[in-house]
Parts: sequence; structure tokens; C-alpha cells
Amino acid sequence: MSFKVVVKPSNREFTIEAGETLLDAALRNGLSFPYGCRSGVCGACKNKVLEGELDYGDNLPPAIDEQDIKAGIGLFCSAGAKSDLVVEVKEVETPGEIPIKNLPTRIASADELSDDVMRVYLKLPETERMQFLAGQYIDILMQNNKRRSFSLANAPHDDEMLELHIRHISGGRFTDKLFGHEIGEKSILRIEGPHGSFFLREDSDKPIIFMAGGTGFAPIKGIVEHAFAEGITRPMYLYWGVRSRKDIYMNDLVQKWADEHEHFHFVPVLSNALPEDNWDGRTGYVTDAIMQDFDDLSKYDIYASGAPAMVYAGRDAFVTKGMDQERYYSDAFEIAGD
Ligand code: FES
Repeated sequence: MSFKVVVKPSNREFTIEAGETLLDAALRNGLSFPYGCRSGVCGACKNKVLEGELDYGDNLPPAIDEQDIKAGIGLFCSAGAKSDLVVEVKEVETPGEIPIKNLPTRIASADELSDDVMRVYLKLPETERMQFLAGQYIDILMQNNKRRSFSLANAPHDDEMLELHIRHISGGRFTDKLFGHEIGEKSILRIEGPHGSFFLREDSDKPIIFMAGGTGFAPIKGIVEHAFAEGITRPMYLYWGVRSRKDIYMNDLVQKWADEHEHFHFVPVLSNALPEDNWDGRTGYVTDAIMQDFDDLSKYDIYASGAPAMVYAGRDAFVTKGMDQERYYSDAFEIAGD
């Protein structure tokens, strides 16, 4: 049986299904409830229950006791619902509200998405989760105090594993090892995160242009999946600039988004299409494609992710068509590459 949950003070509502925890249901619906371990141990998900009754099953988890329950406190990662609920939650809206963690992870899988891009899934320890906002990044900590930054490609509601899209940089200390299979499934990596201020500004109702270059698609994937989960219906235009056809390494997924969501539009742009690509789509630089398609960029929020040269070129071009620089968001300003 499902129940309705109303969140104060935002008055947002969602439905919790049988067998689901309050936290799972909130995240599934794109709400950013605070949490830590997601396993009843740390207490970071404690919030007030104003009306209704929670269901903990047979045993209370370690981070809550009868006294808390009498005081109207609930442990949302471990409780289902026995009735409709009204809860009070300070939702996470900015990166500064999320604790930065340093955690060991294990590579659960590493699959080649193209000849120079791998999708790596990292598994956290059983009793640990890392809260993040869609679009943020983590650092992989290496020897000699070196670190490599990679954007998170999954949305927060889907956080059992961390998804990274990693491009092989020849001579890159970390990616040479990964593509040379010195690092692979079951390897242990220490990470730190989440970091970064590349996340969806939900206080805006402007349509969104996403400009991705290569694996700059990764954080945009997380943001778009989060927006779909939350039911955001602002028009979204994804321009994905790559060299040739094979570099659109998740074409089927993005085409599926476009097929299933009327407000989502996809424009792949190839800079060096190969004869075997038989490409009759857009060609050239992705920044130019956006400049050709929009006359007045003051009406849009623009999120850019990829090589710094593309991000800066975009900024310089878009301001000539009215873009508000305050509403141009990128992670290129802060990410440390390989
Ligand atoms: S007890 Fe850690 S997130 Fe709920």
C-alpha cells in the first residue's frame, strides 16, 4: 500500500510505496533529503515527523531509540510508512550543506563505452553512502598526494554505486593504469568528495541549454536524470560536441530521453565526422551550433561541461547574444584533469 508524504516547509509531496524507506522514496522523487550511511547507523537522516506513523519493522536501528520516537523524531533511511505523513525536513540545496568524506571504494565494474572511454562503477563500503548533488565530482586520491577529479554521472536517487566516465589520456598517470588494466575490477581506490558547484539551480524557471564536450557529458547525465526524477519540465536542450560518431558513447540513452520527454531535445555535433559515420547531422564546433540555433541567450540558463577551451569559448561567444554570465555554470573552472 502506498501513502502520501507532505514535506514542510516546502509543501512538496511525494508517494511512498510499500517496502520503501522514506529516504528512498524522497530521493527517487528528486528531493534532496540529508543522509549519511543509509543504513541506520550515523543519524544524519533524523528529521521531525509532524503527523502520521513510521514503520521500523521488528527492530529499531542503532541510531534511534524510543525517546527519539516519543519526541517525534524519525530515522528516514530506515523507516517506511504506516499512514500518510507530514514531515519537516531541511532539504539540501547547496554543496556547502553536504559533508565531504574520504572513503575507500572498490571498482565494481569497468566497461569500455568506446575505444577511449570507460564507465567505472565504484562501490562504497556496506555501511557508507556519499550524499551529493547531481553534477558534482569526486577526487581519486593517489600516491604522492596527487589527485584526479572525475564527475559523477549518476543521479543522487541512484547512489548505490558511483558512476564515472573516464577518458584515456595518453601519459595520464591514472588513466594509463586503468586502460592498461593495471587497475580494474576489485581494485581499491580511495576517494574524497563530493566537490564542486556544478549542480542544477532549481530556483530558476528558465529553459536550460546543456553544452557537453566528450566525457563532459557525465555530470550532465546526472543532472538530467535528477531533473526527470524530480518532474522538472523546464525545456532542456543538450548539445553534445564530439569528434566522430563513436564518441557519442551513450547515444541510445540520450535518444531514449528525447523520445520519452517532450521537453528534452538532443543535438549531437561532430567536429571530425569520419566517412564511415555517414553523418548527415550537425557538424563543426558545439559552441557554433548553439550560436546558430539561439538568437537571444538572455532567456536561458547554460550549463557547460568539458574541456576548458570549449567552456571559455562558449562564454565569450554567448555573452554576445545576451547570456547572463551569472547564469553560466561550469565545472571546468575547478576540476583537476589527468
Ligand atoms: S542513519 Fe545514517 S543515513 Fe540514516
